Amino acid sequence: MKILALNGPNLNLLGTREPEIYGYETLADIEAEMKATLPEIEIEFRQTNSEAELITWIGETRGLYDGIIINPAALTHTSLGLYDALKAVADEVPAVEVHLSNTHTREEIRHKSITAPACVGQIMGFKGFGYTLALRALAHSLKSS
Ligand code: DQA
Repeated sequence: MKILALNGPNLNLLGTREPEIYGYETLADIEAEMKATLPEIEIEFRQTNSEAELITWIGETRGLYDGIIINPAALTHTSLGLYDALKAVADEVPAVEVHLSNTHTREEIRHKSITAPACVGQIMGFKGFGYTLALRALAHSLKSS
């Protein structure tokens, strides 16, 4: 099983970025935790601050990956293009959306996810550990489909 894990804007700053909200783990720590927990799953882990790059990467997944884990960060609340990209490959490459924080407890603008309806499910509020939960959930969903 091969999974593409995608991270959107400002997630490169994890570890020092508002740690009371996002935790003290860096993105490298999260990647290492995912790979150590489920070593049988091949994970390609990427981050970009560019919406266009994320859309391009999602569009290239067909035939290469079994599923996507995505934290679209701020683009969650704004990007119809990202929603369309996830929808375009969803029949073959399903996605799970993950958020470090529980966005429902935060500013109202963060309550709506534009991208979540293009995903099989969403996990939020467990900081970096949520990525490993998302990976487990995606693997389970792929095995039972
Ligand atoms: C986030 C939540 C978003 O609202 C925010 O813009 C982020 C991170 C999270 O993981 O909690 O950058 O996606």
